[in-house]
Amino acid sequence: MKTYSIATIGGDGTGPEVVREAVKVLKAVEKKHGFSIQLTPLDYNGDRYLKTGKTLDDAELEALKNYDAILLGAIGHPDIKPGIVEKGILLKLRFGLDQYINLRPVKLFPNVETPLKHKTSADIDYVVVRENSGGLYTGSGGTSMAGTVHETAVQNMIYTWHQVERCVRFAFEYTQNRHKNGAWKGLTAEEKSQGFIGKLTLCGKSNVLNYVFDLWERAIKTVGKEFPTIKTDYVHVDAMCIYMVDCPEKFDVIVTENLFGDIITDLAAITQGGLGVSPGGNINPKGVSMFEPIGGTAPAFTGKNEINPLACIGAAQLMLAHLGEEKAADDVEQAIMKTIATMSSMAAGKMGMGTTDVGDYVARFIG
Ligand code: IPM
Ligand code: MN
Repeated sequence: MKTYSIATIGGDGTGPEVVREAVKVLKAVEKKHGFSIQLTPLDYNGDRYLKTGKTLDDAELEALKNYDAILLGAIGHPDIKPGIVEKGILLKLRFGLDQYINLRPVKLFPNVETPLKHKTSADIDYVVVRENSGGLYTGSGGTSMAGTVHETAVQNMIYTWHQVERCVRFAFEYTQNRHKNGAWKGLTAEEKSQGFIGKLTLCGKSNVLNYVFDLWERAIKTVGKEFPTIKTDYVHVDAMCIYMVDCPEKFDVIVTENLFGDIITDLAAITQGGLGVSPGGNINPKGVSMFEPIGGTAPAFTGKNEINPLACIGAAQLMLAHLGEEKAADDVEQAIMKTIATMSSMAAGKMGMGTTDVGDYVARFIG
């Protein structure tokens, strides 16, 4: 029997609660689909930092390379200065394991309320491929002349051709795979007749950040030659914020740099029903990937059995798909949709049931 070795990091806030429900679902799925999941819970979080002063050391990072994947809850602690555990644990994991893609599917399930009037689940079904290793997240910069009116703060947006090329390549391959069973419905009849099966939109800011986005546009042109069936498009990040609200049906796959991706996926999350249902994957296609709800620690809901675990269950679904267990992943998605039909809202505290009930429902629907 195939066995997957999975590290789970509950983390802080509501992280452990939602991971517990995702684990419930994984147990239901392994039984049914004839593989085995071996779980190793790890306590890398803010509480451990407060007790020991340790975030995540190099030996711990190295040891994580022995797992098939990681399932993470959330990192961030109200009693710790912002940035310490986020950088010391979450970003150290992403960077240290070279998870250079942050994959964030944006899908409005039936029966989920969206603030977008006149939009339905037929209109919102796209994926953001967020570059996850460079840009403004590299820590390059500094301050000088502190304490004077001339104090200068610099934070650099840095990209190498290597980083951009591999990200864009992943995005093209992902778009192609997404439509291996038929062309994307958003294409016009003319585009279909030209042989296109999907669309990849670069989200940038080439009118101001010309050095960086010139690199991105050339990477799209160069790599795009190998993917003649993928139509390419370009949208500035500010206009993207209009289109994602006004006409999300325009999008199939969006590829963008790190911080833009961070920002637009929070906007995307609210259009798909909120952080309670929005999963993500930090992917190293040749290494160890890590799956997490994109919502964070939700301190106001910690320990109340009120947080929505569907984003973490969705992250587990992405993990199964990544491991090649496509059927199991589809099963989880079906069970999520059936569960949603019995919930009164996707918002924490308003679901009409508790966190543990949601996990029970999904596990039961898997059967
Ligand atoms: C996210 C978060 C992180 C990020 C923070 C917590 C460092 O906002 O996963 O989107 O900026 O990537
Ligand atoms: Mn974010």
